[in-house]
Amino acid sequence: MRAHPEHVPRQGRARSGRRPSEPEPGERSDGRVAAIIPAAGAGRRMGGRTPKQFLRLTTAPVLLVTVGHFARHPAVGSIVVVAPAAHIDRVARLVRSLARRLPVTVVPGGPERQDSVRCGLAAVPEAADIVLVHDAVRPFVSPALITAVIDAARRHGAAICALPVRETVKRVVDGYVESTVDRSALWAVQTPQAFRAALLREAHDKARRDAFRGTDEAMLVERLGHPVRVVPGSEENVKLTTPGDLRRARTLRRRRW
Ligand code: C5P
Repeated sequence: MRAHPEHVPRQGRARSGRRPSEPEPGERSDGRVAAIIPAAGAGRRMGGRTPKQFLRLTTAPVLLVTVGHFARHPAVGSIVVVAPAAHIDRVARLVRSLARRLPVTVVPGGPERQDSVRCGLAAVPEAADIVLVHDAVRPFVSPALITAVIDAARRHGAAICALPVRETVKRVVDGYVESTVDRSALWAVQTPQAFRAALLREAHDKARRDAFRGTDEAMLVERLGHPVRVVPGSEENVKLTTPGDLRRARTLRRRRW
């Protein structure tokens, strides 16, 4: 599975100058970008008893590979990993080596992803003004993609990455086609997503007050009437959901950077 050149952002750090989200080479982040990694799901579609984020990608567990991308990104100053309550110690042990690079906090999650992200948000340091949210089960995120959403969130307040839908999409009811959806404006959304911290907090507070359930953070921000910028996602940035996804992922060579 190769990335489509059209849809993969170029490497964030252009030779001619640095991106606004990136410190000078060699300089560590000022701590103003925090990443929340929701990893508290049970992963039932994967089958088996071990949640999918703990399964090995090649040698390292999926979760560690994912968190590692953010720990090594120069703009990221702190990480909050949201873990299943029963696995807090296991996750803390897993990320211990990364915690030498930057503050990594492990907190228990909630029954649904949105609850888990809210738990993570409560642990984000006050100093962070941009918050990234990235699914633990997308271990092929690239540094360029992280940079792109941070930069877009700095400019626009809220940013997601997505790819245009290429398949024909139909609405199906009881095994029969009801209608064909016009796909020309449809995009399949990925993580990471990035937001100004105050905006994400406001969006989560409102969703909680209204008992609203969304499938991603952007949905909560959209409800505030705030525009959400879309940057090109990556075909490599797959979400591992089924055993087949994991098998395919194991055959992909992990990108090093
Ligand atoms: O279930 P789904 O595949 O949408 O999960 C996406 C991400 O959200 C996964 O990394 C999963 O561990 C996380 N999640 C969570 N808390 C939940 C459910 C899912 O942190 N209650």
